[in-house]
Amino acid sequence: MNREEARKEIQRLSDLIEQHNHHYYVEAKPVISDFEFDALMQQLMALESEFPELLQPDSPSQRVGGAITKEFPTVVHKSAMLSLSNTYSREEVAAFDERVRKALGENIEYVCELKYDGVAVGVTYENGIMVLGATRGDGTQGDDITTNLKTVRAIPLRLRGNDYPAHFEIRGEVFMPREAFEQLNAAREDAGEELLANPRNTTAGTLKMQDSSVVASRKLDSYLYALIGNDLPFQNHYDNLMKAKEWGFKVPPYVAKCRTLDEVYRFMETWEKERNSLPFDIDGVVIKVNDYAAQRELGFTAKSPRWAIAFKFKAQKEEARLLSVSYQVGRTGAVTPVANLDPVLLAGTTVKRASLHNSAQIEKLDLHIGDSVFVEKGGDIIPKIVGVNTTLRPDGAEKVVFITRCPECETPLVQEEGEAAHYCPNHMGCPPQILGRIVHFIGRRAMDIEGLGEETIELLYEKGLVHNYADLYDLKYVNLFGLEKVIESDEPGGKQKKISIREKTAENILTGLEKSKTVPFERVLFALGIRFVGETVAKKLAYHFGDLNKLMQASEEELLAVHEVGQSITDSILAFFASEKNRELIERLRAKGLQFALHAEALEGRSETLKGLTFVISGTFGELSRDDLKALLEKNGGKIVSSVSSKTSYLVAGDDMGPSKKEKAAKLNVPVVDLEHIKALIAGTS
Ligand code: IVH
Repeated sequence: MNREEARKEIQRLSDLIEQHNHHYYVEAKPVISDFEFDALMQQLMALESEFPELLQPDSPSQRVGGAITKEFPTVVHKSAMLSLSNTYSREEVAAFDERVRKALGENIEYVCELKYDGVAVGVTYENGIMVLGATRGDGTQGDDITTNLKTVRAIPLRLRGNDYPAHFEIRGEVFMPREAFEQLNAAREDAGEELLANPRNTTAGTLKMQDSSVVASRKLDSYLYALIGNDLPFQNHYDNLMKAKEWGFKVPPYVAKCRTLDEVYRFMETWEKERNSLPFDIDGVVIKVNDYAAQRELGFTAKSPRWAIAFKFKAQKEEARLLSVSYQVGRTGAVTPVANLDPVLLAGTTVKRASLHNSAQIEKLDLHIGDSVFVEKGGDIIPKIVGVNTTLRPDGAEKVVFITRCPECETPLVQEEGEAAHYCPNHMGCPPQILGRIVHFIGRRAMDIEGLGEETIELLYEKGLVHNYADLYDLKYVNLFGLEKVIESDEPGGKQKKISIREKTAENILTGLEKSKTVPFERVLFALGIRFVGETVAKKLAYHFGDLNKLMQASEEELLAVHEVGQSITDSILAFFASEKNRELIERLRAKGLQFALHAEALEGRSETLKGLTFVISGTFGELSRDDLKALLEKNGGKIVSSVSSKTSYLVAGDDMGPSKKEKAAKLNVPVVDLEHIKALIAGTS
């Protein structure tokens, strides 16, 4: 391809990708599969790397991220990014309406919107191309986070149509949908990392990250809610917003035009009730005067427009009595204080426990046993204590003092520099840490040992049969058969539960352990429970080093050289293998035959070509067994599920396939392909 042909092809691919991006992220109606989308992106990126001078700043490849920003330059906003005046009461909304009517007469139109709980950004477009993205900062100047904002797929890099002003700014809110937030926290929990408090703070932190490829992986979303410019097509907010939608912006569907205060109230009430049904957090509604001339007439105070007001929902908050504080010790030794409360109904659920985070939090609240505390369920997933009603403090109430020794093993706690949490350093002798590590080891995503669960592990530990995960492989039938334990319920008056290991269970456990010896190296590595080494990092390390010996011998520099492995992961790996006890456990596991290296086949013929694609297999495939086909798809990054849904990428049809799957695929527009097609997909010739 010569340069001119490449230029045309880059243009064609960019247009096509942006179009599909819009279908997917803005309209939520994808037209092609993720696989086909990725293939287009690969083609574009290949051409751009061959002809780097043809890379455009609005190329869709910018969405993948990769650029590192050490320090974000400051930008002065062309027009100040003001905030809204807030209120929590209907009366103040009525007073706002009265002021507006007094100034403008009775012919008023409001636009009511949701108040998204995220981070405000301003994005500038020149001739339809995104040229700048900035944070609000102090309202006058913010940070230039253009590279990071380009990875947010709901924000167009290039506009559609041709009737947009040559220069304008659009403002909106970037946020993290609750599901993305929960997934992120689940992954962090697996890796033994500290959990993130709520989607809003996480969004703010993410937008300020130096590595834009991490930002790209965080699944941020955005709604746009204000246009600023001299040549906007309409003289009112609502019509411009709808026009912006035509240009490719993700404009919220939760918008209503209201003429009376009652209509405004209805909007407020509806969303206060329905807020939990949205896939993202909101903290109120915003009421804006629609007409620009009317807005100008009302003008601004020093801080906020007089033509708009935010009605904030009351935090979902209740008062409850603090009965006691207990302390939980996690797998990594971190000690978390938990408040035990007299049960109270909060935002539809009964709350009995609330997080107290750490010792500093307890100090700050000046907490006493018997206190009446305010429990709040805000954006945070776990309810938290936000204050104490000191007027109700019982006489002589005892002050809560953070423990100095581990509640489980009495070891004096330590606090590492720069960390808020206290740790029990007795990693090898503290029961919940020992148990936590074994339970992690047998987990579904780690060694996935059938027949073993948390309660059985506790039983084996209490009977002195298992002190670490290597001991599991020394278990014999005679040790297991006949073991019994009665578990008391947490609830007063709740039922007792008895677990006992009979013949069948004992056999299952032993078979499960035997079977786990074929679990691939990357999962064994995850199972070891090295702090910060979650599933993804374990996989990266496994494929980078190939076997455990190489990883154990790796130097600090060699570890840091692995993509996405930073200083804390490196330190943690070095510390783990420096421990003689850990090395001894590893040698015992090795002697038992666990997989400590990638299989040659695992390395050969592996690819990520089918990453993001979901397959359903139906029928038979001649020579190739269904298990082999499954392995082939998985080896190339594909995922196999059992039934066809709208999320299925392909139905792989063999001989003698039943009619029902085929009908369902036809109904949901899922492509039906044969084995040849799959082979071509993997080979990249499809
Ligand atoms: S309009 C001049 N509309 O609330 C007014 N703001 O306190 C410009 N926000 O910083 C803001 N949803 O981050 C507007 N539908 C919405 C909003 C919204 C959330 C945030 C925004 C702003 C803050 C104002």
